[in-house]
Amino acid sequence: MSKLHQLASYFRYWLNAVDKHSLQAPFIYELYTSVIKPNIHNDHFKEIESIRDQYKTSDQRIPIIDFGAGSKVSNNHIRQVKDIASTGLTKKKYSEVLYRLCNFSEAKNILELGTSLGVNTLYLAMSSTESRVTTFEGSPALCDVARDTFRQFGANNINIIEGNIDDNLQPFVDSSSPIDIAFIDANHRYKPTLSYFNTIRQKAHDQSCFIFDDIHWSKEMEKAWREIRTHYSVSLSIDLYQMGLVFFTPDLRKQHYMLQF
Ligand SMILES: C[S@@+](CC[C@H](N)C(=O)[O-])C[C@H]1O[C@@H](n2cnc3c(N)ncnc32)[C@H](O)[C@@H]1O
Repeated sequence: MSKLHQLASYFRYWLNAVDKHSLQAPFIYELYTSVIKPNIHNDHFKEIESIRDQYKTSDQRIPIIDFGAGSKVSNNHIRQVKDIASTGLTKKKYSEVLYRLCNFSEAKNILELGTSLGVNTLYLAMSSTESRVTTFEGSPALCDVARDTFRQFGANNINIIEGNIDDNLQPFVDSSSPIDIAFIDANHRYKPTLSYFNTIRQKAHDQSCFIFDDIHWSKEMEKAWREIRTHYSVSLSIDLYQMGLVFFTPDLRKQHYMLQF
């Protein structure tokens, strides 16, 4: 990870990101004002955050299998849960966007690559009673904690697939119904990111939305994001700096937006 790269890419984003006043097309305007930007209170958020808070004080030490660029902070093989909860999870503000996105698109079949403690998975799962989330995690100890997270919350619409995504994703996709929302937050490298995109794209439909985390984290993630957003199948792409969203709707004019967030 290069701090210089991150500084430069943030500066570029800061210079170019626009707000609602620059958005003319109805779909992107609605998406920005009713899904991306709102800061609406929701009882689910409060309950989920109390679980995150609990993990932030947990001294439990667990073994972690390193799958590559999965950890942004530490490559230690034993980590404290409080450390993961404080530095390795999607921040509340972004998880809330994912929740609203699932809700807005009435997503039923939702995928998450990279479960970690399962806190963000709850946001995906609570977006609708009709949704079903499949989440993938390679570290068995993290899977155990995540299963506990889901149990504590009483979430019974989550299926966790334990093991290496490189082995498990294609067989899942082969038998999956069309994928409505996918949040890709596992191995943050060029090759795996492109491979995840090409695999789940096999089950994308016109209303699908895929969200990629850490798109500016490194030069290779930047390259992966550029290739994904310019892919022929993608019509609309949105850069929120921390994450990038792509849509496949054929009747949207191919456009790329950097949006203030
Ligand atoms: C950044 S964390 C996920 C955070 C979570 N999605 C959230 O939003 O809070 C990335 C996770 O992906 C897992 N991971 C990375 N590469 C993987 C692979 N090839 N197979 C399975 N899991 C992997 C790591 O073990 C780690 O727990």
